[in-house]
Amino acid sequence: MKHLIDILDLSAAEIDELIATAKDIKQNPQAYAHKCEGKKLATLFFEPSTRTRLSFEAAMYELGGHVIGFSDAGNSSSAKGESVSDTVRTVNCYADIIAMRHFKEGAPLVASIKSVIPIINAGDGGHAHPTQTLTDLLTINTEKGRLNSMTIGLCGDLKFGRTVHSLISAMSRYENLHFVLISPKELRMPAYVLEMMEENGMSYEETTSLEDAMPKLDILYMTRIQRERFADADEYLRLKDSYILTPDKLIPAKADLTIMHPLPRVNEISTAIDDDPRAGYFRQALNGKFIRMALILKLLDEAQKNPGRVNAVADGCAVEGLKCQNVRCITTIEQELDHKFKLVDAEKGVYRCIYCEAQA
Ligand code: NCD
Repeated sequence: MKHLIDILDLSAAEIDELIATAKDIKQNPQAYAHKCEGKKLATLFFEPSTRTRLSFEAAMYELGGHVIGFSDAGNSSSAKGESVSDTVRTVNCYADIIAMRHFKEGAPLVASIKSVIPIINAGDGGHAHPTQTLTDLLTINTEKGRLNSMTIGLCGDLKFGRTVHSLISAMSRYENLHFVLISPKELRMPAYVLEMMEENGMSYEETTSLEDAMPKLDILYMTRIQRERFADADEYLRLKDSYILTPDKLIPAKADLTIMHPLPRVNEISTAIDDDPRAGYFRQALNGKFIRMALILKLLDEAQKNPGRVNAVADGCAVEGLKCQNVRCITTIEQELDHKFKLVDAEKGVYRCIYCEAQA
């Protein structure tokens, strides 16, 4: 049974296929206008969103399907204390596919364990955002004509930025890439992502200077410093203006640089850059609709082909005396959810939570 919880749930060949379908949809939208007639997408958004939710909804409408859902957890029964599991089992009665965004890390994985219809992770806390990554891969492929052999700068909040975590995971499959990780020390890429890069032999450097990085970049992926993820408001105020991309900073940049941003932007890219042909972020937002159309088609098609399927299993085990300590983890709120872990380093006895991937 296919859910999309983590970008690596899709093979490289499947990602290629999705990119090809998205490009075809862009060229021949009429050919896809009735593909999802009679089907319903439920968008369960427990956290704010503009692009992700609306592009999912536009995608389903353009496929001839219908959309139900909520865009504010306050309007759903979670405000009455309902668990993610119960919400999902209920929505299984009304829809054919679910896109879920949640402020707790691992919530979509919990949903997939309870669901017999496909679950798509539309962003979970500071953890992962696989459909943004599909959007980003389509954008890079369209702008550069390839997904390998380039230098990619990721800049801003690399600690809580779920889009950059998923993008790096996806990029572990492509060759000859170099990453420049540009962030304040306080917002460095999490250890589990750096370890994954090392295990996969990915080339990277960390720096605090956007200026130093600029001349070597083929892609500059800017991110927002995310106020809502900070436990300490003063720390946010201190860091919020760490990087502001202005036209003068682009002087040493390559002529064919592509500037990306998952959006929303606050002030990290000056609007004076919007008309520069290198500014790709609104093209990126448009790509989000086409790749989500391709994804909905694929997951519904597979669900139809495997009607007798069972739901996902949580692959991990309980460890005596061990509880996940991450305050943003779904285990902190979901009732009767067992803490489960994966042993990632047997020698050092390092375990990671299966829901949020934080070290326990
Ligand atoms: C991002 C997200 O929600 O993680 N936005 C998006 O989905 N396009 C980035 C962000 O909120 O800063």
